[in-house]
Amino acid sequence: MTTTTTKPRGSQAVKAPAFDSAAIRSDFPLLQTQSHGKPLAYLDNAATSQKPQAVIAAAARYYTTYNANIHRGVYKLSVDATAAYEAAREKVARFINAPSEREIVFVRGATEAVNLVAATWGMENIHSGDEIILSEMEHHSNIVPWQLLAQRTGAVIKVISISQRGELSMDHYAQLLSDRTRLVALTHVSNALGTINPIERIVSMAKARGIPVLIDGAQSVPHLAIDVRKIGCDFFVFSGHKLYAPTGIGVLWAKGELLENMPPYQGGGDMISTVSFAGSTWNDIPHKFEAGTPHISGAIGLGVAIDYLGGIGMDAIAEYEHDLLLYATKQLNRIPGLQIIGTAPEKAAVISFIMENIHPHDIGTIVDGEGVAIRTGHHCCQPLMDHYNIAATARASLAFYNNREDVDRLVAAVEKVKEVFN
Ligand code: ALA
Repeated sequence: MTTTTTKPRGSQAVKAPAFDSAAIRSDFPLLQTQSHGKPLAYLDNAATSQKPQAVIAAAARYYTTYNANIHRGVYKLSVDATAAYEAAREKVARFINAPSEREIVFVRGATEAVNLVAATWGMENIHSGDEIILSEMEHHSNIVPWQLLAQRTGAVIKVISISQRGELSMDHYAQLLSDRTRLVALTHVSNALGTINPIERIVSMAKARGIPVLIDGAQSVPHLAIDVRKIGCDFFVFSGHKLYAPTGIGVLWAKGELLENMPPYQGGGDMISTVSFAGSTWNDIPHKFEAGTPHISGAIGLGVAIDYLGGIGMDAIAEYEHDLLLYATKQLNRIPGLQIIGTAPEKAAVISFIMENIHPHDIGTIVDGEGVAIRTGHHCCQPLMDHYNIAATARASLAFYNNREDVDRLVAAVEKVKEVFN
C-alpha cells in the first residue's frame, strides 16, 4: 500500500495508508455474515459499531494469556495486565491530544462520564438558581443527569433552540449565556441529525465569561479527529463501543486541576490511598475515579481500536465518510415522499428520515428483511423529536467500512417499503 500524510492531528502527524474500503471491510468478521439469508448491510453505527478482528483478538489474548487484576499483584500476569491497561490510557490521551494520561478516566461509557461529572463537579459547583445550558438536540444522556442535578440543587436548565435544518441557534446561545450560567453541556455531533456543532466557537463564547464546558463526543470521536486542547473545553466524554472497541468501556477526559478538585464518584478499592474508620484518603487522579476492578479487557480493546484507526487516519476516515454521506443523501432524496430530518451543511454520516404515511418501525422491519440494519425510534432524543413534531425517524448511520453498495441496498430496501405500502 502507498502511504500518504494526512493533516497533523493533535500534536502528531499521522501517516495513513491510502483508503482501501474493501480491505478495511475484510477486517470486520461480523460484516462477512448474513442477515435473513442476505449479506448484511450494517447501517446502525451511531448505535454501536462493529469490531475489527484486532480488537476481538486483543480481548481474547488478554483472557487466554494474561488475565489478572491490575494495580494489585506483584506477579508477572498482574504486572502485564496493568501495563496493558495503562498503555491503553496513554493511547487514549494521544488520540484526543490530552495533555496527560492522568486526565483520562476510564468509565463504562459516555453516559457514565456525564453522570460522573454531574454527581461530583456538579454537586460541588452548581447551586440553587445557577443555570446549565443544553440544547434541543441533546441525547437523553446529556439531559437527564443535569435534570437530576437540577432537582437536587435547584439549578435551572436552559435550552438552545435549533433551526429546521438542525443547526444550533448561535444567537439564542449568546442570549442564554449570562452571569448565572455555570455550565454549558453540548453534543459535538448529533446522533439523530448528524449535525456537527461549531464547538470551538461555542467553547470560546463560554470561556469569554469563564464558564466551564462539557462536550459529548460520543458521536464525533468515531468520525472526526479530536483535539481537546484545540476545542478548549473542560470535559470531553465518549464511549468505546461506538469507536470499534468493546462495550462497557468509555472515557471521561477533564482538565487535571478539575479532576484534582472533584470529589470521588464511587467509593471502593483502588480509588483510595488509605482507609481507616476514622476516615479515608483518595488515590491520585485518574485512579480516584476508578473504584473497583475496571473493564480491563475493554480498555485494552479500546487501545487496540485506536491503534487500528491510527493506521487508517481519522482525516482519511472523515473524508471517505463525507463522500459516502453525500452519495447516500443524494440517492435517498430521489425517493418521492421521503424526507431527511437534519440537513445542516456540516454533518457527520448520519441520515435520519421519515416517509409519508409510513411509520419508521415499519420501515425498519421491512428493510431488515432485506438484510439492511438501521435504527428506528426517537434515538434517545425525545425533545428533538418534539421539535420536529414527530414521534420517530428511521436512521441510517454510516462508518468507514460501509460502501456505496450498502447505500444502494438501503435505497432498494426503502423502495420496497414504498411498494408494500402503495
Ligand atoms: N445513542 C445511540 C444511538 O444513537 C445508542 O443509537
